[in-house]
Amino acid sequence: MSQRNSLPNTRTTRRKFMQTTGAVAAGVALAGGSRARAAETLAKNGGPQAVTFPADRHKAVLKWPQYDPEDFEVIQKITDLDAADMYDHLPAMEKEWSKFIGVPFSKNHNNGTAALMSMYFATGFPPGTEIMVPSYTFYSAAVAMRFFGYVPIFVDIDPKTACMDVEDAARKLTPRTRAIEAMHSWGLPCEMDKICAFAKEHGLLVLEDAAHAHGASMQGKRMGAWGDMAIFSFQATKPLPSIEGGMGTYQKREHFEAASVFGEYRDPPLLPADSPYRKYVGTAFGPKFRMHPVAGALVRRQMKVLDARNAMIKAQVRRLNDVICQLPGLSEPYCRPDQDRVYYSSNVLFFDEAKAGFSRKALVEALKAEGVSISSGAYPEQHKNAIYKEAKWWHHPPVVPDLPGTTRVNATAINVGLMRTEAPELVDQYIKAFQKVWAHRKELA
Ligand SMILES: Cc1ncc(COP(=O)(O)O)c(C=O)c1O
Repeated sequence: MSQRNSLPNTRTTRRKFMQTTGAVAAGVALAGGSRARAAETLAKNGGPQAVTFPADRHKAVLKWPQYDPEDFEVIQKITDLDAADMYDHLPAMEKEWSKFIGVPFSKNHNNGTAALMSMYFATGFPPGTEIMVPSYTFYSAAVAMRFFGYVPIFVDIDPKTACMDVEDAARKLTPRTRAIEAMHSWGLPCEMDKICAFAKEHGLLVLEDAAHAHGASMQGKRMGAWGDMAIFSFQATKPLPSIEGGMGTYQKREHFEAASVFGEYRDPPLLPADSPYRKYVGTAFGPKFRMHPVAGALVRRQMKVLDARNAMIKAQVRRLNDVICQLPGLSEPYCRPDQDRVYYSSNVLFFDEAKAGFSRKALVEALKAEGVSISSGAYPEQHKNAIYKEAKWWHHPPVVPDLPGTTRVNATAINVGLMRTEAPELVDQYIKAFQKVWAHRKELA
């Protein structure tokens, strides 16, 4: 608890910020940038840095997670309780989460991986069932299927969005396929209308991995409310950080009850008398997956500020991207007009070396030297890992396909630091840095 960054008063500051943000404001303020920037020597060659924002403040703007005194108060309230009472608030938290997402049932878990395992258990599928999942995801989304005898079918992503490509799912369908799991990469919703229509046509369960997408929505419906079941992670890097934590959301009682008792030995006696899971009193199904009560308290508190904070982060991304994505070769993941995305981890952009005329490596080096927080972004592709190539770990060997969309995204993505507190001057300095680097494109080629 050494670094107590304080969260801005998002209600008032956001209004103020919105008045000055957007492409017009930034574009006008920085008009004519390229010619002036060409005259300046690149910082990597000894010129002045475009980003002059003080380093400690820059670090604080990018810092994540951010907690404020109210977070510390809720932690204190839990630590003041007796052990027997510490978990009592978790059912209230589940109700609040169900209301926030717009689903009938939620179940707390100690992390997103536990939520995934509980969800897989709740499907009740027989061993040998295949579940469609992107390779462009976190390892546990695919590997955890192993414990139930399920086998991942790796589906490609659309290189314009980094989200699941439904057309590729149609190509990969097998007679053993029983579910499709969409992962909303970096907070951008998958095209859930198309995925749900595809699933309905083929009698598949829709599962959502919403570990990146707390608060994102499509057609006014939040991520986590589209699928039959969904999971969230509240791990420290996530848009809603409780340091470790997870949640499952469920449309049907049967799924909720199965997922609940899988990892919580105290749940069976709490279920209605007619529940088929009530009899598992005393054992549940083996794991112990309940959430840390302090994490639960943080989830409840962070839920209250999530929408305002997502909007503030997004406004800063818009101020930046609306200008820099006009530079040749630079683009952002496509977000449909009926989607309201959030941002997880970084502002992921796509860099086309051929159109820009210089390499991603040179871009990252030059921008880093200018003071921009940037890296070339690659999500380790699951299908290339050793475990999927060894039949002994699986009910039957997973297919290890070529996934050109995934390869393309990993070859073109760059991760620009997300600004988590309002810092319009810093955004404008980032714009200046990008324009400066592009003004030196020939030199970088
Ligand atoms: C897409 C995705 N799914 C699931 C998880 C698992 O969440 P946790 O780390 O809380 O177990 C993560 C975590 O990073 C993730 O990124």
